[in-house]
Amino acid sequence: MHKTVLLGETIDSLNLKPGMTVVDATLGGGGHSELAIQKIGEKGTLIGIDLDQTAIDEFKKKIKNKKGSKVYLVKDNFINIRQILKDLKIDKVDAVIADLGWRLDQVKNKEYGMSFQVDAPLDMRLGKEGTRTAYHIVNSWKEDSLVEIFFKYGEERSARKIAKRIVERRKEKEIETTKELEAIIVGNSKTRRGINPATKVFQALRIAVNNELENLEVFLKEAIDVLNNKGRLAVVSFHSLEDRLVKQFFRANTGGCICPKELPVCVCEPEKKLEVITRKPIRPSEEELKENPRARSAKLRVAERRLSLENKNKK
Ligand SMILES: C[S@@+](CC[C@H](N)C(=O)[O-])C[C@H]1O[C@@H](n2cnc3c(N)ncnc32)[C@H](O)[C@@H]1O
Repeated sequence: MHKTVLLGETIDSLNLKPGMTVVDATLGGGGHSELAIQKIGEKGTLIGIDLDQTAIDEFKKKIKNKKGSKVYLVKDNFINIRQILKDLKIDKVDAVIADLGWRLDQVKNKEYGMSFQVDAPLDMRLGKEGTRTAYHIVNSWKEDSLVEIFFKYGEERSARKIAKRIVERRKEKEIETTKELEAIIVGNSKTRRGINPATKVFQALRIAVNNELENLEVFLKEAIDVLNNKGRLAVVSFHSLEDRLVKQFFRANTGGCICPKELPVCVCEPEKKLEVITRKPIRPSEEELKENPRARSAKLRVAERRLSLENKNKK
């Protein structure tokens, strides 16, 4: 079972009140959504989005026959948040939650072919759509492209060596399963500090298959545009690449000058769209880590929307 990470911290950070409208852009097991529903009550509205139909179906079952907020559940990519709300005839919302990554049950389920802990056909697509699977990348991408994603998304120092081994092996036979790939990566490498040497390459492949960093960038831009003035965006991330992206995005939208240092005067006329609420990311408590060691890399960042006077008047 997936344990929701930073549950209380995320929901508390949103200042939810009865009657508010909230988007949970990564519904998953619905832990954040359930607590949000308690806060916004019967007059509130929750929109739950997930790429994975299983998450939608399970949450539907969970809330069946329960009294509470108005709930809309949508199977889609969160990059489409603006269109999703438009289709539901909702103009602006009071809060958006994104708890990035995967659920434990996705990682452990053979169907997703995500982890070297489970022997399964290499897949890794969260939404099961499109043709870009881990199998496709590993068996057909050029060696240089493999090196690039292992370096960039996995921060894997042996990227070159591992990519070379993969390309040599696939000349003999296609690499079909998670365990086959693990064996090629691990080779004679030793476990580093109890961590399987295949961890970083598998992370890199999951990011590449699901276009995660590009999606996150688009999502952040879209999400702040659907927020009411003083509406809040909370993002929980699980690796440094995502966290860096969120931090930089928040900073770039706080209205500080982003002109090159060489310019004597500011010409960028930055618009202040956000106020950062968490100067440092919120991390799980010792207590949470004891119960759920998987939460150790989680970081929560929160920002509040600021609409310019002109935009406020448009509402
Ligand atoms: C860490 S889980 C969320 C857990 C949830 N907060 C809970 O309390 O159980 C992340 C979820 O986001 C979904 N997801 C990942 N990328 C997505 C995207 N681009 N669009 C929509 N859903 C996405 C995954 O399928 C997964 O169910």
